Amino acid sequence: MRWLALGAGTCWLALVVVVALVSDLGTASAVLFAALGLMTIAGLVFVVSIPPRITSAAGRVIKAIPPPPPADAKVAATLDEQVLAQVASAVARAVDQDLKRTFRQTEALQNLYAIIDFEHALPASRGWPASPDLLLLLVDLVDRHRPQLVVECGSGLSTLCLALAMRRYGIDGKVIALEHLEQYAAQTRELLERHGVADLAEVRTAPIETVEVGDGSAVWYARAAWEDLTAVDLLFVDGPPSSLSPQSRYPSLPLFSERLAPGAHVVLDDFQRAEERDVVKRWRSEYGDRLTLERVPLEKGAALLTFR
Ligand SMILES: C[S@@+](CC[C@H](N)C(=O)[O-])C[C@H]1O[C@@H](n2cnc3c(N)ncnc32)[C@H](O)[C@@H]1O
Repeated sequence: MRWLALGAGTCWLALVVVVALVSDLGTASAVLFAALGLMTIAGLVFVVSIPPRITSAAGRVIKAIPPPPPADAKVAATLDEQVLAQVASAVARAVDQDLKRTFRQTEALQNLYAIIDFEHALPASRGWPASPDLLLLLVDLVDRHRPQLVVECGSGLSTLCLALAMRRYGIDGKVIALEHLEQYAAQTRELLERHGVADLAEVRTAPIETVEVGDGSAVWYARAAWEDLTAVDLLFVDGPPSSLSPQSRYPSLPLFSERLAPGAHVVLDDFQRAEERDVVKRWRSEYGDRLTLERVPLEKGAALLTFR
């Protein structure tokens, strides 16, 4: 580039000298022409030199970038990658546990369908209603022990399954469900009607009131709704909801202990919750040898108590 500028400049100066000698161009004009020509040549040379300058700067930048590690090289994990790995493994564990839980519920449902011939659609299970594994436990207890009288605290899908189990095993008995809210009592009655077992199960609306329990009192289902019940073979405790009072399910056993038939079973749902565990601790401390406890590892946990 430098040689090009020098050559062009020299040629221009020679041209100006020749023109000045053969014409009457004055010295001042010749110098002016020479200077303008040289400036134009310098500008052109600068413009022409820009692309090669960019290319060479880019080359220097590329050379400065370190080469990538070989494909099989071990790259030290950064903190972010470690956190990512921990999150991925926690998610994998949670998904695995949930799949196992879901599989158990599906298995229990299939088992229920094989035992009971449901003729109409069932409402959703799990959440507020009992889970399929608990429904299967109740149906199995009906099959094994053939209870004549089943009392249930908290009505719903479980009332239907208990009544259908009574029909399935040809038991000439009854299910009595205590329900504190008329809305759910009506829903359960309709369900029983639809499935043709309204004669086997009765839903009693039992508003929550203060009842005497031992030397004290507690809020529970209205006495008028259950005081005629005796010789209960199976007591299923799934209410009242814990939002109504602390240890809301505790009164069921003290209030029914003298109403249970010898060898009766008591099932308490939600045994995974601390509150239900405390309730069973109280029952065991009060009834001692008269109670045997089996912890059933269901989705929400269940305590199966046998009362002597
Ligand atoms: C745990 S639930 C009883 C569920 C019943 N054993 C079953 O398997 O369907 C206890 C009480 O909660 C109330 N309950 C039922 N479904 C509810 C809902 N979706 N929201 C609020 N309370 C509900 C009813 O009064 C019911 O007696």
